Amino acid sequence: MATQPALSIHGLTKAYGNVAALRGVDLEVGRGELFGFLGPNGAGKTTTIRCLLDLIRPDGGQARVLGLDPRADAVAVRARVGYLPGELSIEPNQTAERALRYFAQLRGGVEWAFVRELAGRLQLDLRAPIKNMSKGNKQKVGVVQALMARPELLLLDEPTSGLDPLMQQEVYRLLGEAQAGGATVFFSSHIISEVEAIAERVAIIRDGRIAETLDPHDLLRRSVRRVRVRLREPLPEGALVGVLNATDIQRDGANLLVQVEGEMDALIKALAAYPVIDLETERPTLEEVFLTHYVEN
Ligand SMILES: Nc1ncnc2c1ncn2[C@@H]1O[C@H](COP(=O)(O)OP(=O)(O)OP(=O)(O)O)[C@@H](O)[C@H]1O
Ligand SMILES: [Mg+2]
Repeated sequence: MATQPALSIHGLTKAYGNVAALRGVDLEVGRGELFGFLGPNGAGKTTTIRCLLDLIRPDGGQARVLGLDPRADAVAVRARVGYLPGELSIEPNQTAERALRYFAQLRGGVEWAFVRELAGRLQLDLRAPIKNMSKGNKQKVGVVQALMARPELLLLDEPTSGLDPLMQQEVYRLLGEAQAGGATVFFSSHIISEVEAIAERVAIIRDGRIAETLDPHDLLRRSVRRVRVRLREPLPEGALVGVLNATDIQRDGANLLVQVEGEMDALIKALAAYPVIDLETERPTLEEVFLTHYVEN
């Protein structure tokens, strides 16, 4: 039934020997959502996604994918999901086209014109042998493979990994278009800015548990940024008095180092009255956000 959630995960646990990878993951993703799964290295993102495709078996808990049981209904799940693994293994002695035709055959009914369109937009040469490809180009083959059948659910493990910024943007657009076409998109990442840029909802996983599920704007609101400003001349005293969310202002001649909590608007407007030569902002890493917000967990 179309009313069932795209993903529904309750109390999922998984240990590798004595390493507890998942300690009770709870997650629900509705149909049509563009959902980010954010967590630092080793948090359990890949393990969670692999459980959803029955590539590994959880020790406990329950998962449903489009209302189906990943183990009992594995074939049906595979037919309806586009999956991008963290590390795609493809036979290296063939071209991208041959590899994709093989994947297409397994799925049945892939529109080849769409494969060409995807490859074109990602600047992927389909005639190139896999073994000669850079990491980024192999990643593009994986992205095309996941998207090409226009599946109703995309499960993507770090889809932009290894791609340069322009190609990352193109992948974001493709994910947005998949969603606009009715698909549910679930993707993992460890980059806050990326999740913030495209996801409508984000779950933060840490140490095998969901720390929080939130609106990505809240990530921005609570994040502290360092802003480095180079001016033509030193700022007059009191120039930043009205910038209430600027903390820790350091001056060094015409250079300024400011810490800003949340939105940049007040600082930008205050600086607009002076000749700014350069302005750089630095985002905290996921680890820094964890340190400031989840210390007690
Ligand atoms: N095959 C395995 N054998 C033993 N331990 C494993 C195995 N796979 C994962 N782990 C451990 O399980 C935990 C979760 O790993 P997982 O790969 O799910 O994290 P992740 O969030 O995908 O990290 P990354 O961002 O680095 O991809 C880690 O502590 C990892 O070392
Ligand atoms: Mg991973």
